[in-house]
Amino acid sequence: MTHEVRGVVARAKNEPVSVETVLVPDPGPGEALVTVQACGVCHTDLHYRQGGISDDFPFLLGHEAAGVVEAVGDGVTDVAPGDFVILNWRAVCGQCRACLRGRPWYCFDTHNATQKMTLADGTELSPALGIGAFVEKTLVAAGQCTKVDPEASPAAAGLLGCGVMAGLGAAINTGGVTRGDSVAVIGCGGVGDAAIAGARLAGAARIIAVDVDDRKLEWAKGFGATHTINSSGTDPVAAIQELTGGNGADVVIEAVGRPETYKQAFYARDLAGTVVLVGVPTPDMTLELPLLDVFGRGGALKSSWYGDCLPSRDFPMLIDLYRQGRLDLDAFVSERIALDEVESAFTKMHHGDVLRSVVIF
Ligand SMILES: NC(=O)c1ccc[n+]([C@@H]2O[C@H](COP(=O)([O-])OP(=O)(O)OC[C@H]3O[C@@H](n4cnc5c(N)ncnc54)[C@H](O)[C@@H]3O)[C@@H](O)[C@H]2O)c1
Ligand SMILES: [Zn+2]
Ligand SMILES: [Zn+2]
Repeated sequence: MTHEVRGVVARAKNEPVSVETVLVPDPGPGEALVTVQACGVCHTDLHYRQGGISDDFPFLLGHEAAGVVEAVGDGVTDVAPGDFVILNWRAVCGQCRACLRGRPWYCFDTHNATQKMTLADGTELSPALGIGAFVEKTLVAAGQCTKVDPEASPAAAGLLGCGVMAGLGAAINTGGVTRGDSVAVIGCGGVGDAAIAGARLAGAARIIAVDVDDRKLEWAKGFGATHTINSSGTDPVAAIQELTGGNGADVVIEAVGRPETYKQAFYARDLAGTVVLVGVPTPDMTLELPLLDVFGRGGALKSSWYGDCLPSRDFPMLIDLYRQGRLDLDAFVSERIALDEVESAFTKMHHGDVLRSVVIF
């Protein structure tokens, strides 16, 4: 049986998105059909609609989602109809060179659904990050469904499916922030604020938030920033050094994805410190740095894909912390919107009016 549902589609580069009829097949072997309850609007969705990720239009957008499994295909044993799940874009294969070396959070061959969702005329859709969840029902690989405590609110839980997990993991997993560390976070959107929350959870002593928007800096304090810097009028490198005894921060997390903010991160860390790039650059961007500085400052320059998370390990643990009141996922939800409001949510995101707009079904 084919399910006829409504979904948000980006048809062409830089064109506004539209709500279209989407045809979703029943799950085949290894697949699951999920009734989506909530899906957050991530900057990466906007990157897709701007053609910044690939040219495989039309895209079915949305990938930060939670919902209930409606049906599973043959051979699926880990999830069953009725399970409350967060969708992930890291269904690990267990067989690639990363998985075989015991590092499944780097899995190089993650699973997505084999069958395609299509427009009413049969045109195949490219689901954002192999998910596509601004749609009433979506088809994913069963491994993309991570079961969590059904008491969690779908709007909050879904955010762990991408940006919030990326930020938390950039601090905790990739950056290895530990108690007593000084941490600076450049860019305080949903991802950067999650990095701040992660740094607080990990016991950082000093957490410096940097943004060009005072509203964002105010929100960052709520997630745990101990100091804030508006870098539109102040040199953030000098300011971070001043707040860290003249040395720079142990871990600097770049959550914008631009060469100039990466350079700030590079120079704002202490000797032997760590830079984590979690912001996603576009293909036209390049970076030039004196090689001697790269060598002479030591330490580690890392990128963080999805916060180096392992969904089966991290999602249930973070939902537990949320349920215990130790991780305020609700604070990331700026507004709850309808499916036909995604384009206006992009505008609000662009103007910095929201951390996360979340589509509620
Ligand atoms: N690595 C991953 O796995 C992953 C996952 C999700 C999102 N991302 C990326 O993370 C980045 C942030 O995502 P988001 O959803 O938080 O976006 P966002 O638009 O909500 O936040 C970006 C923030 O950066 C600030 N900013 C812009 N220019 C700045 C500058 N020059 N200096 C300081 N701050 C500046 C903005 O004011 C805003 O607060 C994006 O590039 C997104 O694609 C990465
Ligand atoms: Zn693998
Ligand atoms: Zn995302």
